[in-house]
Amino acid sequence: MRHWTQLGEASVPGSDKSIYLFQGKDDFFIKLSGGLELMNTRKHGSEDALGALPCQNLENPESACVLIGGLGMGFTLAAVLDAVGPGAQVTVAELIPEVVGWNHGPLGECSGRPLDDSRTQVHIGDVADLLREKQAFYDVIALDIDNGPEGLTKSNNSWIYSEQGISATVDALKPVGIVSYWSAEADQKFNGRLKRCGLKIEEVSVYAHGNKGARHTIWLATKQS
Ligand SMILES: C[S@@+](CC[C@H](N)C(=O)[O-])C[C@H]1O[C@@H](n2cnc3c(N)ncnc32)[C@H](O)[C@@H]1O
Repeated sequence: MRHWTQLGEASVPGSDKSIYLFQGKDDFFIKLSGGLELMNTRKHGSEDALGALPCQNLENPESACVLIGGLGMGFTLAAVLDAVGPGAQVTVAELIPEVVGWNHGPLGECSGRPLDDSRTQVHIGDVADLLREKQAFYDVIALDIDNGPEGLTKSNNSWIYSEQGISATVDALKPVGIVSYWSAEADQKFNGRLKRCGLKIEEVSVYAHGNKGARHTIWLATKQS
């Protein structure tokens, strides 16, 4: 007996892969071609933390300028909106236009419809373009565009996790800004790259759901003072 229904399919720009949105009895999930589950609506503790943790020590949360890459199921965006004030501007970059459409549909209920918040601006496209174009602009950058610090959804995503991409991200941050990265697993090589780029890092292990079971890794990185 089938326990899920496919609601959507979208090709990934810049790759030969596709992603698929499914609805189960009590949840939604998104899979990549080949079957890897990228996200689901049941377990989002670490996606919430990716947005909440870097906003905790903002000097001025009222008017913070935040960049999130990508939207996924909207949990990181919702956590950032909860943590910042009414004058904040939160840009979410999402590569796949259909993902934005899915979040405007029933999927959006699961994260509390953060796209409808007047502080949210959506950039449909590659978050790397915003990182290359902005200088000393963001207070917080929260990045969750793949399963970890390597290009899986599309190979070009590896640039973001390279020393060149990390440096561009740091340049896009204000001097006291902070960047958070999400990964399914710890990664010593990525740790090393962050340090070689002169960043002070805190590596946090966060439960995917509740307070037991699988954990994910979040790096919080700031410029050395
Ligand atoms: C794992 S999901 C993000 C989950 C999200 N943190 C949440 O709270 O649901 C990754 C998202 O990043 C998007 N993405 C992948 N590469 C991207 C890129 N280069 N720029 C912007 N978005 C990208 C994917 O389409 C997908 O929606």
